[in-house]
Amino acid sequence: MSIGIIGAGRLGSAIAAAFAKNDIPAMIANSRGPETLADLTRALGANISAAPVSEAFKADIVVLATPWMPLKEMLAAAPAWDGRILIDATNALDYIDPNSPEAKDPTNPLAQYGVKPIDIGGRASSAIVAELASGAKVVKAFNHVNSAVIQDPEASGGKRVLFISGDDQAAKDEVRKLLERIGFFIRDLGSLKAAGPLQDFPFGQLAAVNFVAV
Ligand SMILES: NC(=O)c1ccc[n+]([C@@H]2O[C@H](COP(=O)([O-])OP(=O)(O)OC[C@H]3O[C@@H](n4cnc5c(N)ncnc54)[C@H](OP(=O)(O)O)[C@@H]3O)[C@@H](O)[C@H]2O)c1
Repeated sequence: MSIGIIGAGRLGSAIAAAFAKNDIPAMIANSRGPETLADLTRALGANISAAPVSEAFKADIVVLATPWMPLKEMLAAAPAWDGRILIDATNALDYIDPNSPEAKDPTNPLAQYGVKPIDIGGRASSAIVAELASGAKVVKAFNHVNSAVIQDPEASGGKRVLFISGDDQAAKDEVRKLLERIGFFIRDLGSLKAAGPLQDFPFGQLAAVNFVAV
């Protein structure tokens, strides 16, 4: 089973590190090309290889760990999914230029964190991703946790809970097995539309809440 992680920033590199630590081979890709990932892959060891986005997109399981804004264009360029699994870790947020007036927008509770919510018309963000990646089995995961804890799944004598949701049970079972291998306790919440929004950061009810299964 091949894995491609698209996005090598805070979240993508933390997921790659968790895979590396647990002997799970994966490719990782960013917008600037594999040569810019040499330091990261050297640090993570032989399990993690740098790849162009086009190669990472061909994997059996693709982890989407990029900002929201480029998704439409990226997914339009992806090869046919043919039922492959897409783990959607994205949140519908956009970065703010710290020197722009938006950085001081009193109506945006996230301005101090350098981001703003993107208006997606009240829809479930991963249902939009599933539409853009037609033919993929989309499983929503990682959205609600801080990347800093991904390599540290044990806490308070138990395992941190990672919530997943999706519309295909076999895909969710596959993702559950993978994420259990990196040490998390997995709780399936239900479908993308009904349950996915609970996982959204920062407004989902389960976002940034640290559940530990003991
Ligand atoms: N950080 C967290 O704790 C966290 C937790 C849960 C979910 N998330 C979600 O995960 C996503 C990534 O967050 P992040 O904090 O990791 O962001 P980040 O640190 O800014 O990293 C973003 C990564 O995406 C890559 N990227 C951007 N546009 C791309 C494109 N068109 N094609 C390929 N790669 C592209 C960037 O490539 P370059 O490096 O080449 O620019 C970078 O590696 C967001 O949707 C966020 O809401 C983040």
